[in-house]
Amino acid sequence: MDLEELSREILTCTKCPLHKYRTHAVPGEGSMKLGIMMVGEAPGADEDRTGRPFVGAAGRLLTETLARLGVSRDDVYITNVVKCRPPNNRTPTREEVEACLPYLLRQIELLRPRRIVALGLTSAKTLLSLVGKRVEKIGDVRGRCFRGRVAGVEVEICVTYHPAAVLRNPRLKEEFMGDLATFLGGGLERFF
Ligand code: URA
Ligand code: SF4
Repeated sequence: MDLEELSREILTCTKCPLHKYRTHAVPGEGSMKLGIMMVGEAPGADEDRTGRPFVGAAGRLLTETLARLGVSRDDVYITNVVKCRPPNNRTPTREEVEACLPYLLRQIELLRPRRIVALGLTSAKTLLSLVGKRVEKIGDVRGRCFRGRVAGVEVEICVTYHPAAVLRNPRLKEEFMGDLATFLGGGLERFF
């Protein structure tokens, strides 16, 4: 199975109740040019409408922040923990995350990222649980990276804020940009 086949499977998935509310499932997009995956929580309204990750207001902030750091969003692979939009953008339930997680794991297995950037608490909790770390508050892990083996791949899981949180609280902007600058650097020379 390759990434395209996996994406097609996601588009027609009915493994959890979220399939009933969606217009489009959002498998993810981008490339492994920098060896980096960025993982958000779940699609919002704009993502559900277009089938693309991070294209609404939070997505614009992410895309612009990457651009300011000299990185095109096409140079990273962008996806979410849960591939279908929860009603009213509520946080996905534990059951929904569990049902959808095999897709993220297969994406990791296929794309073999050297680093995964977790955007926000849901993503950090989910990804760090895979390397045996429990997370309660974003402030406990934000700005840090944790090594571990996920889906047979040695990765660093690095945590920052969700861009929607940065939109709500512009004082987080500096830390958010600093985190991304750190996470996108460090070892990049190996990829050039
Ligand atoms: N928020 C997310 O977590 N993911 C998206 O794709 C868009 C908004
Ligand atoms: Fe399937 Fe994930 Fe969508 Fe649930 S959220 S229907 S598990 S693709």
